[in-house]
Amino acid sequence: MYIWPLFKTQAMLKTITGFSKFTKEEKINWLSEAFLENKKDAISILEQYWNSNKKLQQLHDEFIENTISNFYLPYAIAPNFIINGKPYVIPMAVEESSVVAAAALVAKFWEERGGFTAKVVATTKIGHVHFIYQGDFAALKAYFNTIKSKLIETTESITKNMRKRGGGILEIELKNKTNQLENYYQLEVTFETVDSMGANFINSCLETIANTFKESQSLEIEVVMSILSNYVPECLVRAEVSCKVEDFSANNAEEQVRKFKQAIQIANVERYRAVTHNKGIMNGIDAVVIATGNDFRAVEAGAHAYASRTGQYKSLTNCSISDGVFKFWIEIPLALGTVGGLTKLHPLAKLSLDILEHPTAKELMQIVAVAGLAQNFAALKALTTTGIQHGHMKMHLQNILNQLSASTAEKIEITSYFGDKQVSHNAVAEVLKKLRT
Ligand code: MEV
Repeated sequence: MYIWPLFKTQAMLKTITGFSKFTKEEKINWLSEAFLENKKDAISILEQYWNSNKKLQQLHDEFIENTISNFYLPYAIAPNFIINGKPYVIPMAVEESSVVAAAALVAKFWEERGGFTAKVVATTKIGHVHFIYQGDFAALKAYFNTIKSKLIETTESITKNMRKRGGGILEIELKNKTNQLENYYQLEVTFETVDSMGANFINSCLETIANTFKESQSLEIEVVMSILSNYVPECLVRAEVSCKVEDFSANNAEEQVRKFKQAIQIANVERYRAVTHNKGIMNGIDAVVIATGNDFRAVEAGAHAYASRTGQYKSLTNCSISDGVFKFWIEIPLALGTVGGLTKLHPLAKLSLDILEHPTAKELMQIVAVAGLAQNFAALKALTTTGIQHGHMKMHLQNILNQLSASTAEKIEITSYFGDKQVSHNAVAEVLKKLRT
């Protein structure tokens, strides 16, 4: 009886209306009063990450609602990638210590063996008007056939510029889905969006098409929603490397490629392994997708759906050993843009595209696929030979030293000490303790 009013007061302190109208300072004040014990420390952490360039800070503030600070990721480059004979430096935004080091190492490995080849298989994107219709299918089909050209015409003002660039709506089809869900139908619309990722373009087209479609005088059509799909199996890229088995490694080359292939076979039959295997691929993919201002959540969702397209979640990479030649490749759907969205608005995303020498969306698909293949190569090569922790913990050593507040001199000494020893948090703490006493 007594607890309820008290609980209510506390809860009310932690909820708020009209928050988005507050200034940044008011938002931080409210947050720290309602949720944070050490208000002063919290404010100083948030302010530490504000950019002193006011215009740049405002740009970031306006990317999303309720911005109170910036969240940095390290931005790095991996040199020496040769893709289709052209050298690239690949920008990567990622926090995991070994990812860029692995990319750089693998780039060099394959540079000495002819580099990567990559090819875009297809670039079609897809979206749907999902609707409910309870009548006769033949009548619906007849209505669709009469209105189809009007559905395309109705998007004229939206598609005009895209068509000038070589894109637009490719096809609209009526799909009967009633065997999966009662009275459920779709208009399935396919698009070419050239150098833009095209999400806004596709969604605007779909909503316009839906509005025209539901205006039928004779049929009762209830539109549920109109939205692009992030499953884009027809927006597909393939990247590959190959070399003679004997060139794979200075010693035990045959055994190494055999175990490498077995690692992929395991990922193809064992979901627990496949998820980790593909996670490693996404380490490289996401890092480049983020650095170029693209939508990594869309890419992630699409990639994992593609990995399970057969009904079994499998490896996104594959490998063959035939006639003394080792071949390793990835096939992955990637809906990316090099115009629109954040690509030109975020100064670092724009710089990334400059570093990549202004790729088209197709070129970016190839570069990103290569970054994924390279990560998987590094992971499988390490896993099937030395084990992953050796390289991983060496890279993680700096993080451990930072956690333990090691000075620059201590870092140099301890890094050299662990040159030929196994790194662990405890071992590093021990050595640091000894050094300090
Ligand atoms: C770690 O981020 C990624 C790996 O686990 C990938 C893999 O196991 O293939 C090393």
